[in-house]
Amino acid sequence: MNSSVRILGIETSCDETGIAVYDSLDGLLAQQLYSQTDMHARYGGVVPELSSRDQIRKTLPMIDATLAETKLSISDITAIAYTKGPGLAGALHVGAMVGCGLAYALGVPAIGVHHLEAHLMAVMLEELQPPMPFLGLLVSGGHTSLIRVDKLGSYHLLGETLDDAAGEAFDKTARLLGLPYPGGRLLSELAESGDINRFDLPRPMLNRPGLDFSFSGLKTAVALLVDRVTLDDQTRSDIAAAVEAAIVDVLVRKTQRAIKQTELRQVVVAGGVAANQVLRQQMQAMVSEEGGQLYVPRPAYCTDNGAMVAYLGCQRLLAGDKSSLDASILPRWPL
Ligand code: KG4
Ligand code: ZN
Repeated sequence: MNSSVRILGIETSCDETGIAVYDSLDGLLAQQLYSQTDMHARYGGVVPELSSRDQIRKTLPMIDATLAETKLSISDITAIAYTKGPGLAGALHVGAMVGCGLAYALGVPAIGVHHLEAHLMAVMLEELQPPMPFLGLLVSGGHTSLIRVDKLGSYHLLGETLDDAAGEAFDKTARLLGLPYPGGRLLSELAESGDINRFDLPRPMLNRPGLDFSFSGLKTAVALLVDRVTLDDQTRSDIAAAVEAAIVDVLVRKTQRAIKQTELRQVVVAGGVAANQVLRQQMQAMVSEEGGQLYVPRPAYCTDNGAMVAYLGCQRLLAGDKSSLDASILPRWPL
């Protein structure tokens, strides 16, 4: 195809509204992101009904604003990509209805994309892109999986969490330390002034074979620890440092095990937790030691965003995916 295709991407799977325009020749033209976290913080987690109502308020105005940034009009768009799942049903419906409605009115294709596939492929928005096949570690608020990526659309699950996701482990322990939701990034900031040697927390599943994860025991261990200490500022920081060290250690060692098993040395880390600086540093050290190369998107492409949806929609369209205007969603959708 000589002429470029221009995709409008719409991400509304949870508590962020992400809109972007991606051009197959010129790359990302513009993007906007709105996060609802302040609204949900007082409830200690995402309230699904509030999330969908806010997605309704934000999506169309943000599409307008993103297009204005590109100086394009809606009629310059070749196709629309929206997140079809997994995610919160009400929030997903907003993106699906807006995406399919616009596509119908414009007479262009609508492509529903997989949120986790979009996270995995977000690294392709960067200048340095991994060759395929690669080993992917997907760590978000809802998922923790090791995946062999052979090519676009060809994924083989190597291991996953049996209970809490890594992001959930960060958020739940952050809450035990009195931090607001979502606490992952705040816990990491608190850990900066902590002593990682003061408390030793378990590394679940490390002493068992295989590539699965489990993080619920870590949360229990932290709950017991919080009960028996005085939570002064230094102690909170020390516990935060111990939590971060334990989660990062498990993620890095399991990824190392996956490298050895698969002999894949090109490693991609994706999803919100990939924004964690300690994880990035320790993963980099391990992958170098294994003679491989690590690819992690910039933090803004690790957490939810519209750019990854627009990018994946573009690749899917070019690969021949068929348009569908049925606006159906898949709140639970394995990769
Ligand atoms: O991918 P994402 O934005 O949304 C989902 O699809 O789940 O991931 C959100 C998760 C949350 O659990 C959040 O606390 C965590 O990513 N997170 C972090 C950091 N930034 C975001 N966890 C640890 N350190 C961070 N810097
Ligand atoms: Zn996500």
